[in-house]
Amino acid sequence: MNKNTFRNLSYGVYIISTLDGERPTGCVANSAMQVTSSPATIAVSINHDNYTNGCIKKTGKFALSIMTENSNPGLIGTFGFQSGKDVNKFDGVNAFVKEGISVLEDSCGYMVCKVIDQMETSTHTVFLGEVIDADVLKKEEPMTYAYYHKVVKGKSPKNAPTYIAEEVEVEKKEEKWVCSICGYEYRGEIPFEEVPEQFVCPVCKQPKSVFVKK
Ligand SMILES: Cc1cc2nc3c(=O)[nH]c(=O)nc-3n(C[C@H](O)[C@H](O)[C@H](O)COP(=O)(O)O)c2cc1C
Repeated sequence: MNKNTFRNLSYGVYIISTLDGERPTGCVANSAMQVTSSPATIAVSINHDNYTNGCIKKTGKFALSIMTENSNPGLIGTFGFQSGKDVNKFDGVNAFVKEGISVLEDSCGYMVCKVIDQMETSTHTVFLGEVIDADVLKKEEPMTYAYYHKVVKGKSPKNAPTYIAEEVEVEKKEEKWVCSICGYEYRGEIPFEEVPEQFVCPVCKQPKSVFVKK
């Protein structure tokens, strides 16, 4: 099986939000798709180990905020490389509540869904959500998964369904300075060794010291 084939599938980049009791939480997901238009239905695949998974199961609802090319990449660091088990991901994030679920302002639109079915795979739950509210927030270009990799230079952690495909890409690359937290590859004009110590990863905001040579 040639796993590089999977790299030719296209996706967007979304924040999937839900509730942990009263507390909003959520994670980044690329694996969202519209299943049918009437009634409007969305599917999203969430890893069993993600805190968000159990929270969606308990709440029975989730929202999907659509990231744009101008969205703060730090949001992907917060929601995609940390766990709601350990941090309040919505602290300092501009959000508003729709149908009880927090939605990110820094997005071009949102959908709120009630879970109507779910299917377990060995690693992920596929949630099927009927859309109960949706709106366009800004006229900005939605971020594609390809843009996240090619322009933001971000990577996907092991809980993303596309993880193995990313490993294939990394294996092929030459020596680089890479953020050990989120996988961002430094591509600045000056050699990484000469970058000021105050430098922080543009995706996950971690310090220069977490970068490793690969
Ligand atoms: C670009 C990107 C795409 C991701 N896609 C998915 C996905 O589709 N499904 C999933 O379960 N995790 C995905 N992840 C991983 C989760 O966002 C990540 O494991 C997160 O830290 C889980 O947080 P939680 O424990 O608070 O739920 C993705 C991460 C990134 C950065």
